[in-house]
Amino acid sequence: MKNRQFDLVVFGATSFVGQILTRRLVERIGANGDIRWAIAGRNAGKLREVAADTGADVEQIVADAADTEAMRALAECTKVVVSTVGPYALYGSPLVAAVAEAGTDYCDLTGEPQWMLSMIDAHQDTAAASGARVVHACGFDSIPSDLGVWFTQQQAIERFGEPCASISLRVKSLKGGASGGTIASMLNVVEEVRHDHDLRKILANPYALAPADMRTGPRQPNVTRPRPDAASGEWVAPFVMAAANTRIVQRSHALLGRPWGDDFEYDEAMLVGGGPVGAMKATAVSGGLAGFAGMAMLGPTRRLLGRFLPEPGEGPTPAAQEAGHFDLRFYGRTAAGDQLVTKVTGDRDPGYGSTAKMLAETALGFLELDRNITAGGFWTPATAFGDRLIDRLVQHAGITFDVLDPD
Ligand SMILES: NC(=O)c1ccc[n+]([C@@H]2O[C@H](COP(=O)([O-])OP(=O)(O)OC[C@H]3O[C@@H](n4cnc5c(N)ncnc54)[C@H](OP(=O)(O)O)[C@@H]3O)[C@@H](O)[C@H]2O)c1
Repeated sequence: MKNRQFDLVVFGATSFVGQILTRRLVERIGANGDIRWAIAGRNAGKLREVAADTGADVEQIVADAADTEAMRALAECTKVVVSTVGPYALYGSPLVAAVAEAGTDYCDLTGEPQWMLSMIDAHQDTAAASGARVVHACGFDSIPSDLGVWFTQQQAIERFGEPCASISLRVKSLKGGASGGTIASMLNVVEEVRHDHDLRKILANPYALAPADMRTGPRQPNVTRPRPDAASGEWVAPFVMAAANTRIVQRSHALLGRPWGDDFEYDEAMLVGGGPVGAMKATAVSGGLAGFAGMAMLGPTRRLLGRFLPEPGEGPTPAAQEAGHFDLRFYGRTAAGDQLVTKVTGDRDPGYGSTAKMLAETALGFLELDRNITAGGFWTPATAFGDRLIDRLVQHAGITFDVLDPD
């Protein structure tokens, strides 16, 4: 590790979120500070533009994601790679193979469970042997879910002497848009699942991302339609990121050795308010989501959707990112019936402004993460970093973690 040219390389600096990340790193660590970093992408001209626009006066590496030799060279020149080249299922695999081989730490923004599963199964042993720490899902999906549950459990153990047997994440409020890259990744998951019946069954399993010998467990709650919610007392609707986030949380629990109990339950949904208005809103949100999913499944309606959604490279304006935020509530209950509510918030739009700050802190966090604490292998944000990442996010990324007083 000592002889690497760089500490950190941003692969995909030209992507919509990669540009925000690059700008963030310039603010955070400077271009010529102690941390030696570089930006990388497939297009030299675009990289030069990004460097000029963001003030990233750092080295530029031209590399195509499909070129295995270029990915090997990229993985070998740095201690850490952070990648925003997605959809990851289409472009990400050669780089993950290369970092696992080279013993290079790696994080990304994938929310594609089918791809994470294939990467874990293919490269876990190689990463464990080489010392590479690989952490997927380091943006809005799934850091707030994963670390929110981690935080809630620490608080429950401290207050009640036992962890929560169930936790429900409820999205209290959320303001932000989607980029073309995110839409492309979501549509690609739908496309892969549509063509592969076995994959659909695998991904329906809440324990799908657990280590291979831990992919079973009791049935998990799952909000798939509008309903009144016992935890919050409001109506809830399905939350679009739940399918990825719940798998990450259950993977964390499995990697920790299931300390929260074999029956630990976790689900996610959106709060839409109480009473008849809440019921109506829940129905409207659920209908909208089901309509989107239905249109995405069929060729002609999928093409129609594409005409109205952002293209790759497009996304929310800087003003929209600045005006965005998120507020998540975690309703926990222990086996003895003690209850706890915690809150995780972000001060920018979830998918871009906040995501870029979360990803930056994860990537920088590797540089201070002792291998005696976290060894090589595929981890989650909570199992790789735990409280260390919470501290970094609170200090540098505008994320808050709090316990709410009981009413
Ligand atoms: N976890 C989260 O909360 C979260 C939030 C936001 C985004 N995301 C994910 O992050 C990813 C990026 O999103 P985005 O909106 O920034 O995407 P985007 O703007 O469409 O960017 C895609 C990037 O991939 C690069 N690329 C494509 N093919 C390549 C190849 N063969 N070799 C090298 N680079 C290649 C593109 O390079 P060019 O610039 O040269 O075209 C571009 O930089 C997506 O997968 C999205 O789902 C996740």
